[in-house]
Amino acid sequence: MQFVAPEVLSNIVLSQDEVHAPYGGVVPELASRQHIKSVAPVVGEALERGGVGLEAVDLYAVTQGPGLIGSLLVGLSFAKGLAYYHKKPLVGVDHLEAHLEACFLENPGIAYPVLGLLVSGGHTALYQMDEPLSYRLLGKTRDDAAGEALDKIAKFLGLGYPGGPVIEKLGKTGDAKAFRFAMPRTKDRSLDFSFSGLKTAALKVIRENGLTKEDGRLADFLASFEEIVARTLVEHVRAAADQVQPRSLVLCGGVARNTRLRTRFQEFARQAGLDAYVPSPKLCTDNAAMVGAVALKRFARDPGLAADLDLDAFAR
Ligand code: KG4
Ligand code: ZN
Repeated sequence: MQFVAPEVLSNIVLSQDEVHAPYGGVVPELASRQHIKSVAPVVGEALERGGVGLEAVDLYAVTQGPGLIGSLLVGLSFAKGLAYYHKKPLVGVDHLEAHLEACFLENPGIAYPVLGLLVSGGHTALYQMDEPLSYRLLGKTRDDAAGEALDKIAKFLGLGYPGGPVIEKLGKTGDAKAFRFAMPRTKDRSLDFSFSGLKTAALKVIRENGLTKEDGRLADFLASFEEIVARTLVEHVRAAADQVQPRSLVLCGGVARNTRLRTRFQEFARQAGLDAYVPSPKLCTDNAAMVGAVALKRFARDPGLAADLDLDAFAR
């Protein structure tokens, strides 16, 4: 089946970073309350910016999970209400599949089989995609996700939340070779990831060197840590590519905004002679366009989809 790129009429993202920043991480109850407050105005703004009214909507899409259950339930209930009232189909979308699909929004012609690396705050995983809407999990994190490791190190140093962007900004001028970290490997050499050992090693370096956020060596430390995280991720892509022999590579999820990771990923793709795609930064972090993209593909395949009002949310 040949898909054309859907046109994104609007993609409104309301960041909750400021709400959670004082706590150094997401507070689930605050996230749910923020969702209740914001869902209607955000949907309203999306329609206004897109220049369409609800009567023009043919299909509703909503994230089912994985994610924070309270926030998911708010979105799910709201979407069910709209689909029920307007008698339109409603599609429940997997959050991780949506991240992968973000890559196709700007490049609908990506050649299969595709090897995908998803790196977000809660997930680090490799997928093989042999055709549209087919996602085979090849490996995932056994403990911390890469984004989580960045967030925890930033929190420990009192740099703020979310950690990834702060580490990128403060580490920009640093020497990535200043601090040496061993590349983490799982004992069985599978394609699974493990970042908790690396996080512990980084915490040890911070303590042993008495590093603080005012320290002159901070930029070097952050650049070195970011570098080992990026290299570890790309090393897994290399191992997976050897196994599955893809035609294309995609990188997605919030951490895919990171310039160092994007660069290492593109370097590997060039060496391996593979086409590589990374979404624009605004499509890497959580957004609605990627959720709609999955639903549109499902709708194209099965135009008879109905409003599934039994949809349930799942945390993992
Ligand atoms: O995909 P996402 O928006 O939400 C989840 O589904 O988790 O990803 C959020 C993660 C956070 O861990 C954040 O620190 C990380 O993405 N992140 C970055 C950058 N921007 C966001 N990590 C590294 N460099 C960035 N520029
Ligand atoms: Zn996400």
